[in-house]
Amino acid sequence: MFLLRNSDLSKTLKSGKQTTNALSNNDDDVMVFVVSSTEEYVQSVAIRSAVYIGEQNSPYCEEFDGNDFSSTHLLATVGGEPVGTMRVRYFNSFAKLERLAVLKPYRGKKVAHELAGSAVDLCRRKGYTKLYGHCQKRFLLFWRQFGYRQMEDVAPFEWAGHEYLPIWADLEPAEDKLDIFSSPMQLIRPEGDWDRPGVHDYLNEVRKHQKDPA
Ligand SMILES: CC(C)(COP(=O)(O)OP(=O)(O)OC[C@H]1O[C@@H](n2cnc3c(N)ncnc32)[C@H](O)[C@@H]1OP(=O)(O)O)[C@@H](O)C(=O)NCCC(=O)NCCS
Repeated sequence: MFLLRNSDLSKTLKSGKQTTNALSNNDDDVMVFVVSSTEEYVQSVAIRSAVYIGEQNSPYCEEFDGNDFSSTHLLATVGGEPVGTMRVRYFNSFAKLERLAVLKPYRGKKVAHELAGSAVDLCRRKGYTKLYGHCQKRFLLFWRQFGYRQMEDVAPFEWAGHEYLPIWADLEPAEDKLDIFSSPMQLIRPEGDWDRPGVHDYLNEVRKHQKDPA
C-alpha cells in the first residue's frame, strides 16, 4: 500500500516526502493510497458495489466494465477503514478520472476531495497536462475546484439512468514530472512511490557491497 496523501499532515505526492512512515494515528485523518494488492482492490470494489450498484442501481456490467485492469485505483481510509475510492485511466494525451465513490456514513468529510486531489497530483507527476471526465451536473462545482470545465462542443449524454456532462481540465505541468530521462531506478519503483528507494535499490546496494566489501 503506497500512501499518496494524509489530510492531517498535508503529505502530498507533490511534496515528494510521503512514505508509509508518515501514517498518522489520528482516527479522523483521511489517507489516500494507490491500490497495490488484491485485498486493496477488493476493498475498492466493495465500496463501488455499495455506492453504484447498491445506491444508484447501476447494472453490474456497466460498473465493472473491464477497464479496471488498465487503471490505477486509489483507496481512501478513515481511521484505517476503507471508505472511498476512484480510478484513473490513461490515454495518449490525457488521463480520465472516474468512479469516484465514498460510503454514505463518511460523506461530507472531504474524502472525495482528498481522492480527487491525489489523483490530480498523480497525473501531474506522470506528466499529464490534460484531464477528462464525465460528471453529473450537480457535481460540476466540486470538479471546478480541480480546474475542470464543461466541454462546450460535446453534448451531455445519458448513462446508467443519469445525465452526464463531458468535462476537462488543463493541468499545470509538474516540475518533477517523470519522463524517459528520470532515473531508471525511480521508474522501476511502484506506482506513486517514486521517491522512496525500493527493493531494487536495496538489492543493488547489497550486490555492490558483495562485489566490493570495502
Ligand atoms: C460524490 C461523492 C463522492 C462525494 O463524497 P464526499 O466525501 O461526501 O465529498 P466531499 O466531502 O469531499 O465534498 C465534495 C463536494 O461535493 C458536494 N456534494 C456532495 N454531495 C453532493 C450532492 N448530492 N449534490 C451536490 N453536491 C454534492 C459537497 O457539497 C462538497 O462541496 P464542497 O467541495 O464545495 O465542500 C459521494 O457523495 C458519493 O459517493 N456519491 C455517490 C457516487 C456519485 O454520485 N459519484 C459521482 C461523482 S461525479
